[in-house]
Amino acid sequence: MGKISIQKPEGKLGVLVVGMSGAVSTTFIAGTMAVRKGLGLPIGSLTQMGTIRLGKRSENRFPKIKDAVPLAELKDITFGGWDIREENAYQSCKTARVLEDKDLEGIKDELEKLHPMPGVFDQNFVKRLEGTYMKKGGTKWDLMTQVQDDIKKFQKENNCTRMVVIWAGSTEAYLPLGEIHKNLDKMEKAMKENNKEIAPSMVYAYAAVSLGIPYINGAPNLTVDMPAMWELSKKTGTPIMGKDFKTGQTLMKTVLAPMFKTRMLGLNGWFSTNILGNRDGEVLDDPDSFKTKEKSKLSVIDSILQPNLYPELYGNVYHKVRINYYPPRKDNKEGWDNIDLFGWLGYPMQIKVDFLCRDSILAAPIALDLVLFADLAKRCGFMGIQSWLSFYFKSPMHDFNTIPEHDLFIQNAKMKNTLRKILGEETIDYLDEEIEIYQ
Ligand SMILES: NC(=O)c1ccc[n+]([C@@H]2O[C@H](COP(=O)([O-])OP(=O)(O)OC[C@H]3O[C@@H](n4cnc5c(N)ncnc54)[C@H](O)[C@@H]3O)[C@@H](O)[C@H]2O)c1
Repeated sequence: MGKISIQKPEGKLGVLVVGMSGAVSTTFIAGTMAVRKGLGLPIGSLTQMGTIRLGKRSENRFPKIKDAVPLAELKDITFGGWDIREENAYQSCKTARVLEDKDLEGIKDELEKLHPMPGVFDQNFVKRLEGTYMKKGGTKWDLMTQVQDDIKKFQKENNCTRMVVIWAGSTEAYLPLGEIHKNLDKMEKAMKENNKEIAPSMVYAYAAVSLGIPYINGAPNLTVDMPAMWELSKKTGTPIMGKDFKTGQTLMKTVLAPMFKTRMLGLNGWFSTNILGNRDGEVLDDPDSFKTKEKSKLSVIDSILQPNLYPELYGNVYHKVRINYYPPRKDNKEGWDNIDLFGWLGYPMQIKVDFLCRDSILAAPIALDLVLFADLAKRCGFMGIQSWLSFYFKSPMHDFNTIPEHDLFIQNAKMKNTLRKILGEETIDYLDEEIEIYQ
């Protein structure tokens, strides 16, 4: 990689959120508004609170990421988006019941002015929801051109120099990679023929990527995880990334599993269950949507533990993931893990994890970071799958020749080294000066 020339983040950044009335979206949007008004802290956001070491440890240079890296400023973000319900963003925050009134008061006017655009919806992909505010069109291609028009209109009316589209809409029913997803011509033909293997999320993604606008997939849906979209993203010079925000239980898995492997401790089984009572939980109560989520959650352990390299330790792991819809808990999910591991001479041990987390509180800063990094990637001329942002995803996208990286700390090192490259700084291999002492 030669020297990277970065376009400056001048002017407004339009952020269009698909599923903008949902729990994650409203917590992200309202939270960003609150932070930029000085009403709260952006806790959990690396771009806003994290630092990056530059140069040798002895140089003592640890600037904040947002001071060292030319990211868009929060004041320059203009929000918009789509949903299949018509309420304004303030009403949606009240429906989501994540943020309390005291945190919404100071931004109520701004939220009330924010209305979604009508969405592209097909109930075959989300059985538990009924759309009441949707686009009408002949084919999926026609709907896609309507989404393109929405994006162009929004950009013009809000005077945005750049745009990013992020999916924080519902998890769609499981769709395996089919022939029409493997090549761009076939995919375009399928959209024009209204093929049932074109999900609504693909309609939004195609519209954005065809206009050269970065697309972030916060759900486990197939969407841009296919050769046809990789082809489109290269053709239009567009960064794409996914899948599925890494928030609660999987975040813990990608910390614990690397620890077992680093210590060469064996694993017999990992049972994970969740109770949650928000709309996401209701959607995932449907077996087709759950299957998409399950695939995303299950991929983690095998990739980290590499059972092919360590058959005695990880050759026979029983891994099960369950999600239970339990309304009293609302957005405050509880995730239990029972881990059966073994040590020296095979003696068994157990670890129990009980994470009483808040789903959208963990997801919102991820959405913010991804939006800012996606815009940075575009300004750096990056295109295709952005694997340096795997840190944020349960199921990091990769092409057929690359093995994905799931270990949270390797992902973090990879992301920071990419930022160093972008800045023209040395990447860090953690050897630095100490190696001379040993010689
Ligand atoms: N909350 C988390 O920690 C977390 C973590 C990882 C991934 N996710 C994923 O993020 C997504 C959103 O989660 P949530 O808790 O906000 O769910 P939610 O049900 O509160 O919000 C989803 C929103 O998407 C809208 N929607 C559905 N289909 C749409 C379409 N085709 N076009 C436009 N809008 C559409 C719904 O009306 C709803 O407002 C889900 O896929 C979820 O699995 C959430």
